[in-house]
Amino acid sequence: IVPPLVLGIESSCDETAVALVAGDRTIIAQAIASQEAEHAPYGGVVPEIAARAHAERLAPMLEKVMAEAGMTLDDVDAIAATAGPGLIGGVMVGLVSAKALAMASGKPLLAVNHLEGHALSPRLADGGLAFPYLLLLVSGGHCQILAVEGVGRYRRLATTIDDALGEAFDKTAKLLGLGYPGGPAVERLALEGDARAVPLPRPLKGSAEPHFSFAGLKSAVLRAVESGAHAPADIAASFQQAAVECLTDRLDHALAAAGPFPALVVAGGVAANKTVRAALEALATKHAMRFVAPPLALCTDNAAMIAWAGIERLATEGPDFTGDPLDVAARP
Ligand code: KG4
Ligand code: ZN
Repeated sequence: IVPPLVLGIESSCDETAVALVAGDRTIIAQAIASQEAEHAPYGGVVPEIAARAHAERLAPMLEKVMAEAGMTLDDVDAIAATAGPGLIGGVMVGLVSAKALAMASGKPLLAVNHLEGHALSPRLADGGLAFPYLLLLVSGGHCQILAVEGVGRYRRLATTIDDALGEAFDKTAKLLGLGYPGGPAVERLALEGDARAVPLPRPLKGSAEPHFSFAGLKSAVLRAVESGAHAPADIAASFQQAAVECLTDRLDHALAAAGPFPALVVAGGVAANKTVRAALEALATKHAMRFVAPPLALCTDNAAMIAWAGIERLATEGPDFTGDPLDVAARP
């Protein structure tokens, strides 16, 4: 095992996850428990249910991962946990557990920003990915374009002025009666539809400002559903197409304003979408950039990316770093 060995904990939304990652990018052991079944009846994540589920599952999962690796906390160099942003009850479960483990073992605590976990996850998957890179971070809570210049050095070039794209996927799924979680369900249904069948807006496409907007697209999907004039698969395909065109248009804008970059990187849950990936790959080719997309399991929420952000942090801070203070606050 190549040091440092970092234990990572993720609990900011509806996945409880634990992972042990080594300095050479090996995921030694990991466990992930989705709460899909608990939240499905409500059509979205219920914060209180999420917090309780994290609290029930985390300790047994920690034991399982350590047992699978055949290790104890003595073998671990640091303990990393998501400290926010996220649903505060869940974040507190993971962060407080990490603090307790750090205190009991005397190992450093690393309080990781969840978005930084997503932003650095492509470097866990691809050791050849150097700074800087242009990152599209598309998840259920965020839609941003970032210039990633180094560990802890992120320049935000664009963000959404209303909804995140994952949220728009989830809302579209709900309107189409596809249930939760919505993104994969919309993607599946879109395979059977015609992406040109339903006229939908591309908010802010061609705009001189850099940002994203998806609220108008969401409302247009609502009207299309209510009209009863379109097949659900056509609505799903047309929505996905409109969303993809918004992404590529805004990335074109960012590249014109802040480029060039050697690589285009995508991260966050929506990066699991194959149509999104194909469009980004084409855009990267057009701009002569490398395209890097982590494997699907590293795109959605996971603990390996949190452990990896901890490893990057240790390397950046140097040997005298003793970790974050044990009273670091969880952030909603
Ligand atoms: O990064 P993530 O797991 O959690 C955070 O929001 O931090 O992202 C979850 C989001 C959800 O909105 C989900 O619907 C979306 O990612 N998503 C997808 C796909 N898989 C997950 N959206 C479109 N297509 C997918 N295949
Ligand atoms: Zn996430």
